[in-house]
Amino acid sequence: MSQVNVGLCGLGTVGTGVVKILQNHADEIKYKVGSELNIKKILVHDLNKARDVAISREWLTTDPDELVNNADIDIIIEVMGGIEDTNLLLEKAIRNKKHIVTANKDLMAVHGQKLLKLAKENQCDILYDASVAGGIPIIRSLTEGLASDKIQKIMGIVNGTTNYILTKMTDEELAFEPVLKEAQELGFAEADPTSDVDGLDAARKMVLLANLAFKMEIGLDDVEVSGIRTISQEDITFATSLGYTIKLIGIASIHNGKVEVSVEPTLLPKEHPLALVKNEFNAVYVYGEAVGETMFYGPGAGSLPTATAVVSDLMDVAKNIRLGITGNEYITPQYEKQLKEDNEKYMQYFLRMEVDDAAGTFQKITNVFTDENVSFAKILQLPSDKEKIAEIVMITHKISKQQLLNSRENLKGLDVVNEIISCYRVDGED
Ligand SMILES: NC(=O)c1ccc[n+]([C@@H]2O[C@H](COP(=O)([O-])OP(=O)(O)OC[C@H]3O[C@@H](n4cnc5c(N)ncnc54)[C@H](OP(=O)(O)O)[C@@H]3O)[C@@H](O)[C@H]2O)c1
Repeated sequence: MSQVNVGLCGLGTVGTGVVKILQNHADEIKYKVGSELNIKKILVHDLNKARDVAISREWLTTDPDELVNNADIDIIIEVMGGIEDTNLLLEKAIRNKKHIVTANKDLMAVHGQKLLKLAKENQCDILYDASVAGGIPIIRSLTEGLASDKIQKIMGIVNGTTNYILTKMTDEELAFEPVLKEAQELGFAEADPTSDVDGLDAARKMVLLANLAFKMEIGLDDVEVSGIRTISQEDITFATSLGYTIKLIGIASIHNGKVEVSVEPTLLPKEHPLALVKNEFNAVYVYGEAVGETMFYGPGAGSLPTATAVVSDLMDVAKNIRLGITGNEYITPQYEKQLKEDNEKYMQYFLRMEVDDAAGTFQKITNVFTDENVSFAKILQLPSDKEKIAEIVMITHKISKQQLLNSRENLKGLDVVNEIISCYRVDGED
């Protein structure tokens, strides 16, 4: 039986899971691939660290060249993280004809297109299924199972930390800060939670999904991003009373060849499948022209779930090597990038504002919306704790983002509007 040799960059959470799966499922893997997969070298920072897996000490090195310049190694698994240095390491590996499997969405969102092209030029594979939604095979589904369809919309809960925080805030009526602290103590949030709570992590994943779904070269700068720091307990209470759940949703959609990609707090009807995804779980809803609605659900992170995706990619590359068909994965973006303008982005919106509790207030506000041709699906007016102040909560019908921006600007000019407290997308009703 042929042998395929692997260099593993990183032996942390994911790397340890990869070694465990390769060891514990060795017979099944060998049977399915038709080759034996051997770890030859493992790149780490600290040679003396205790490891939670049985490995030969001789495998460990702190010198990347022992992997990327090693003539015996066929495939590099990159599970160490980082962007610029890691990119250089992988470029060098590809030029040395190594195939790549990576779980690194930060790297792939920034340098993915260049790496894929370089891999193709060198007849190498580069697979990255684990980089979006950990154990959920969503990249594999877009590139294989749904390959024959035209994808029209993807909606994803692709960040477990924010979903955990919003679940606690909703179910236990807690505020953002204490829940974040608890999530950090439990290991669901990083010490520096910025990339998660401000939506950047989810944005990187949506870039990868949008590129695959729409075959355009969409970059991080093309994604509108807002995180969950602004969501208050009052927002959640109002959303709940109107029949919605607030989630951080990544949306990528296409209409008339024009694309929109965003990550933002979004109100979903309580019964929407994504509204039912709780805690640190991830889910991706895909709407295809032919298939209709599909939904993928599972653990978005964690050692063994993520390693499952990594090892499945590894097995695909090993099979491709055996069949002599590596280097076929990269497809040049088929279409020129075309992004929707604000007047082409149609959505419902939730608006919450603090206004004077006086006769005529409502009339002035509705005049602003009438001028912009905006109408409403739901409106609530509630007394506030503050004297002579009321709160108005509205859900618009579908309007363009431009109509929303114009209305907000004109509302700010009204003497009866003290503050527009919050404004979020509403989706999932069509
Ligand atoms: N954790 C998850 O659930 C998850 C899910 C999906 C994707 N990912 C992605 O998978 C990658 C790895 O994540 P992780 O959670 O496994 O990270 P981690 O636990 O921090 O492990 C990183 C590993 O890489 C090694 N390493 C880091 N920088 C290095 C360098 N410059 N030179 C040599 N070794 C280096 C570390 O060595 P030492 O052990 O010696 O310190 C460690 O073994 C990241 O790109 C992450 O975004 C992770």
